[in-house]
Amino acid sequence: MDKERRIPVHVAIIMDGNGRWAKRRGLPRTVGHTQGARTVEQILEDADHMGIRYLTVYAFSTENWSRPDTEVKALMNLLRTYMKTSLAKCARNNVRIRVLGDKSRLDKDLQVAIANLERDTASNTGIGFQIAINYGSRDEIVRALRSAAEKVADGSIQPSEITESLISDNLDTRGIPDPDLLIRTGGEQRISNFLLWQTAYAELYFCDTAWPDFKKEDLEKAVDAYNNRERRYGGLIS
Ligand code: IPE
Ligand code: IPE
Ligand code: MG
Repeated sequence: MDKERRIPVHVAIIMDGNGRWAKRRGLPRTVGHTQGARTVEQILEDADHMGIRYLTVYAFSTENWSRPDTEVKALMNLLRTYMKTSLAKCARNNVRIRVLGDKSRLDKDLQVAIANLERDTASNTGIGFQIAINYGSRDEIVRALRSAAEKVADGSIQPSEITESLISDNLDTRGIPDPDLLIRTGGEQRISNFLLWQTAYAELYFCDTAWPDFKKEDLEKAVDAYNNRERRYGGLIS
């Protein structure tokens, strides 16, 4: 089995359950987020060792701004710390970082840190690590369509040139293959506005494990489940 195990090229994860993880322990929700950030670092390493080429994680959605101010601030500070401390690690592990989402709503210093991190890891050739921050799939599609509409308006393309690949090329994930496997931790079974276009044919895997408890074995279980799926893409099996 192990020998023939297919490793998905691109795994996307909705990292959910941090708050409930903390609450169960009588701790503030933000402690769950801190622990969740540690899980991200570990799982990135594990995914890389397993041979996964792209890992995309949902860190903060366009809807998460509606949470209490203190929680939003704590999450932004965690991301800030991550951007500052991860560069050396990325260089060591050859990780290429890209942030998905509308960065314009983020604090200026965070925008600068992200731009630096993306620039300084751009030529790394190891695992591609995408972090979705202020990301909403509908917002991303709207931005992509606006940019296509602008090209039509200025005459650089015809409406007939708006194709699936043109839209893909205008999404934040441009150049990255669509996810093969989408995992959601924390027990909920929904997509919550994540990669709606890109997951058209992804295999979906839901597990009850809260994100702070998610380990390499859980990732392996998800990959095993993926191996038991038959991807048909609308066709017939031969
Ligand atoms: C996921 O955990 C992290 C973010 C959405 C930022 P939650 O904070 O949603 O945790 P639960 O779902 O309330 O347990
Ligand atoms: C999805 O989790 C967003 C992230 C993991 C960043 P949420 O906890 O925000 O989603 P809902 O509210 O359960 O749909
Ligand atoms: Mg949640």
